[in-house]
Amino acid sequence: MRFLPRFAWVLCVMSCTVLAADGLPARARSRGTELPPASKGIPTGKTIPLPSALGLPPVSYPGNNPPTAETVALGRKLFFDPILSRDNSISCASCHDPEAAFSDARRFSPGVGEQLGNRQAMTILNAVYHQTQFWDGRSLTLEQQAEGPIQNPIEMASSLTGVERKLAASPEYVALFAQAFGPGRITYPLVTKALAAYERTLVSGNSPFDRYYYGGDKTAMSESAIRGMKFFMDRTLESPNCISCHNINEAFATFTEPRFHNTGVAYDTATGAFQDLGRTLVTEERKDTGAFKVVTLRNIALTAPYMHDGSMKTLEEVVDFYLDGGRHNQFLSGVMPHLPLTFVPKEQIPQAKKDLVEFLKALTGEMPKDAVPPSHKPQSQASKPALKAKR
Ligand code: HEC
Ligand code: HEC
Repeated sequence: MRFLPRFAWVLCVMSCTVLAADGLPARARSRGTELPPASKGIPTGKTIPLPSALGLPPVSYPGNNPPTAETVALGRKLFFDPILSRDNSISCASCHDPEAAFSDARRFSPGVGEQLGNRQAMTILNAVYHQTQFWDGRSLTLEQQAEGPIQNPIEMASSLTGVERKLAASPEYVALFAQAFGPGRITYPLVTKALAAYERTLVSGNSPFDRYYYGGDKTAMSESAIRGMKFFMDRTLESPNCISCHNINEAFATFTEPRFHNTGVAYDTATGAFQDLGRTLVTEERKDTGAFKVVTLRNIALTAPYMHDGSMKTLEEVVDFYLDGGRHNQFLSGVMPHLPLTFVPKEQIPQAKKDLVEFLKALTGEMPKDAVPPSHKPQSQASKPALKAKR
């Protein structure tokens, strides 16, 4: 019973995305000849280097959307502008709040008309390093992802043509789109390209962990965090085994990996049912039941509540969950720690948990330069860890 509405909207968002993928010429044709021709959709400006930071790999981008100063600035303006929602009440930043490291401090985010979804809005800082987008990976690129929230009836509740029409009525946007993509009609794919170009600049690294591990600064982390890092990186299954899913490698650390895992968060032990089927909604494979994307742990101290359903309020709760082996169910990932844990003597486990939390807190990085709405004055604190803790 409880799955049905949830399942239905995920399918809706998925199918809308598929329909929209090559919808541009069809829409243009069906609307007749009154519209000016669409722009070719390739940014016309000079390609700019994307920001990078200690501990992070270079950012890649699709060949048809090289970043330019104009597309990034336009995407930034759109990201903070409620014009993308049906009633001009909600912007991307309403749910991905820079004050909360581009996540939502609320368990579920209210959309247009205060409607609530059933998944937590994760950070989009460093989202560019994820090979798929969303908790179930249903979008493959940031461009494709950006179609979802606009059309989702419980998020921005708009339509692609509605957004195109509103933007076309704004002389300011008409000029900005022309500067970014050349003159022509504003089409939705251009909106997604600009949003994605901006999101590719939202990288955050150079955390105490990066300075310690990659920068050679042995004073950057506390003794406790260093012990926590060692537990985190212990690959035996009788250890927390965090690194097997949240990757750290020799040159950089994304704290994610392409596979999806069932850790048991969605499993309801009382009823034996899954509150959210997760990856199965996309692959329709039984083995993916209750599996979710391995999300990044960067800036994790600033992005509570945790997990796809926002069910854990603190990092202590998360660490307890893992050290109890997750929530057992028939689809539980074989990579989850196996009980009993042998990585430290039993009496030292409370300290080990504290150390792991200290390590997670050392993953708070620097805020990217353009992390504020364009109307803000340039900030002098742009490169210090300006993120405000939200609890
Ligand atoms: C009403 C709240 C809401 C609004 C508005 C919203 N989002 Fe989200 N966003 C979410 C939620 C919730 C998720 C996770 C949903 C899921 O995985 O099923 C999400 C996921 C994402 C992700 C995936 C990140 C990852 O690591 O997988 C990206 C990127 C993103 N949103 C960008 C945007 C952009 C761009 C906009 C504006 C066009 C936007 N969002 C508007 C709530 C919102
Ligand atoms: C089997 C793979 C796996 C292992 C091992 C693992 N994780 Fe995770 N982690 C995940 C997945 C998948 C999620 C998302 C789960 C969900 O929301 O249902 C996640 C989510 C999290 C989150 C919440 C992220 C957020 O933005 O809400 C934290 C914090 C976390 N893991 C920390 C750890 C720590 C610390 C360890 C080691 C003790 C660890 N993980 C071990 C796969 C793993």
